Amino acid sequence: MRISSIVIIGATSGIAQGVARLYAERGWKIFLVARNADALQAMASDLKSRGASDVGVLIADLCDTTRHGEIVSTASRFSGNIDVVLIAHGVLKNQQEIDNDPNAMLKVFDVNAVSTISLMQRFASALEPQKSGTVAVISSVAGERGRRTLYTYGATKAAVSHFAAGLRARYLPLGINILNIKPGPVDTPMMAGRTQALIAPVSAVARDIVRAIDSRKGVIYTPWFWRHIMTIIKMIPERIFVKINF
Ligand SMILES: NC(=O)c1ccc[n+]([C@@H]2O[C@H](COP(=O)([O-])OP(=O)(O)OC[C@H]3O[C@@H](n4cnc5c(N)ncnc54)[C@H](OP(=O)(O)O)[C@@H]3O)[C@@H](O)[C@H]2O)c1
Repeated sequence: MRISSIVIIGATSGIAQGVARLYAERGWKIFLVARNADALQAMASDLKSRGASDVGVLIADLCDTTRHGEIVSTASRFSGNIDVVLIAHGVLKNQQEIDNDPNAMLKVFDVNAVSTISLMQRFASALEPQKSGTVAVISSVAGERGRRTLYTYGATKAAVSHFAAGLRARYLPLGINILNIKPGPVDTPMMAGRTQALIAPVSAVARDIVRAIDSRKGVIYTPWFWRHIMTIIKMIPERIFVKINF
């Protein structure tokens, strides 16, 4: 029997680790890509002890787009047929942290948008001959409306969401699903030191992601109630929205 496989990009992210554990418990083959070698090795050992049938690792700074071809080919060689790709890396910067530093602002685009879109496209193309599989990407509810305190981060996530929608329309008829994951705040290192209402545990978000991959959803909000919160936020008239300081 063929063993199923998942490739996780930005594997040391809090959310990605939660998802990886669930696939390890299913006995899948797991290929991890991240830039922190020590964290990656520790994660690989942990996943093996949880039941993963095999774990491969590749160390890469994902902003180095010249390495994206190598990432896809190494992951494909390790996995054979790739059932799932999860793209999870990202950085969160409040607007005031980067307001006076255009290079730092563009760096957020490099990490969250440019490198992510490049990898989505490359993996979708790589899956085309199999005529099966899912490319899942973590965007954010922050991509749905430009907020005064978070519009650079939000714009990167809007770019990813928009790209994912088009990529899905193109690849779904070829048998490949593209899943856009829109979490609200999640309790990971990204949120450390930030006070945040409605923060979700990684375990719940990871479960939602795996369920959405299993059922070949196109877009999910996680936890589910963010769909309703965002419906309301998107309905607020612009003249009122610009006065809200959040
Ligand atoms: N946590 C939330 O509230 C929340 C909400 C909505 C969406 N999201 C999105 O969910 C995804 C996962 O975030 P998380 O919450 O799990 O955050 P996290 O634990 O802080 O993980 C972020 C990961 O991105 C990696 N990364 C950043 N720049 C990189 C680069 N140039 N090359 C390689 N890896 C890089 C980091 O690696 P290092 O450890 O080596 O720095 C880290 O593993 C992100 O796309 C984030 O925007 C998170």
